[in-house]
Amino acid sequence: MSYLQLDAVAKHYGSRTVLRDVSIDLKAGEFVSLLGPSGCGKTTLLRIVAGFDQPDSGRVVLEGRDISGLAPAKRQMGMVFQAYSLFPNMTAQENVQFGLRVRRQDAAAQQKRAREVLELVGLAEHAQKYPHQLSGGQQQRVALARALAISPALLLLDEPLSALDAKVRVQLRDEIRRIQQETGVTTLFVTHDQEEALSISDRVVVMHDGVLAQVGEPAAIYGEPANIFVARFVGAVAELPGVVADGSGGMVTVLGRQVAASRARGMAAGTRVYFLLRPETVRLGPPDAAGMLHGTVIARTFFGALTSLKVEITGGTDCVTAAMASGDAANIAIGSTVSVNWDPDSPRLLVA
Ligand SMILES: Nc1ncnc2c1ncn2[C@@H]1O[C@H](COP(=O)(O)OP(=O)(O)OP(=O)(O)O)[C@@H](O)[C@H]1O
Ligand SMILES: [Mg+2]
Repeated sequence: MSYLQLDAVAKHYGSRTVLRDVSIDLKAGEFVSLLGPSGCGKTTLLRIVAGFDQPDSGRVVLEGRDISGLAPAKRQMGMVFQAYSLFPNMTAQENVQFGLRVRRQDAAAQQKRAREVLELVGLAEHAQKYPHQLSGGQQQRVALARALAISPALLLLDEPLSALDAKVRVQLRDEIRRIQQETGVTTLFVTHDQEEALSISDRVVVMHDGVLAQVGEPAAIYGEPANIFVARFVGAVAELPGVVADGSGGMVTVLGRQVAASRARGMAAGTRVYFLLRPETVRLGPPDAAGMLHGTVIARTFFGALTSLKVEITGGTDCVTAAMASGDAANIAIGSTVSVNWDPDSPRLLVA
């Protein structure tokens, strides 16, 4: 049985449809990310789960019980928001105790629990500081501790890392995953950062304009995108147009050349397709008659360990990007002609 079930949840604001019959099942202990561009309805969905907003239709079911009509305070949810939302006049410890005080726990039990969760988020020695005495990352740790203090039935995180700088963001992201695994709390994590979603989730829900574009494990979302929107949203991808030349042999014509593509097997000859090529699957080499395609290197971007080279394919204006070790890329000059190859089994083909 699923632990949390969103069943055909729909929401409109005036004539605008923000969520269209969204259905998602979470297993107990699962970490699921809602990933999608700004305005696609992530926060709206989270607020409906928390009870701050009501769906126009559909249900929120927790452990088999329909909680759609339940007030937020009765749902036992722990929430962390994008903006630091601590009470400025309370210490870290008092902030964490707040939810427990509201629930009328006795003072000694409150303090013990607050110390426990502050320890869990690595802030034991900052318990007596006020928010203005804490860094952004530390403030979000307090907010996380506050959400966890009540032993929530669900942990709801709405872009908790977006206000932090890149390095702290990665640190805290890994911490969130560790803490989630340690406590086993079922978690819904909202982000518009694909790397964040892919790196810490059991499953990722990709949203687009209020509908689910794909639900799956990170590797499937990245490697087997269901459609072009998902392919583009979860990382760099080149799209090369082709036409199936021979379905039984798995051959596709791309820019005048026939290349092998095992995913074309079973497709009718004449089917228009797109090759989706991730940069790390593209290999460049010296010009060579056996090369799948050829092209000219037109740009280079250095990322430290990796460098990406952009190649304009001969015979058109289509480009692919190859990511390779920076040491290897240093030997390939801009303007040089290269062969462009990939494993015939690897790229996904989408029917155009
Ligand atoms: N209370 C409201 N009244 C009217 N429209 C709203 C309301 N809340 C949200 N919307 C609209 O619903 C759409 C989805 O908003 P939502 O906040 O869920 O997006 P989001 O995916 O969280 O985006 P972001 O990544 O920018 O936070 C937006 O177009 C927004 O303007
Ligand atoms: Mg939002």
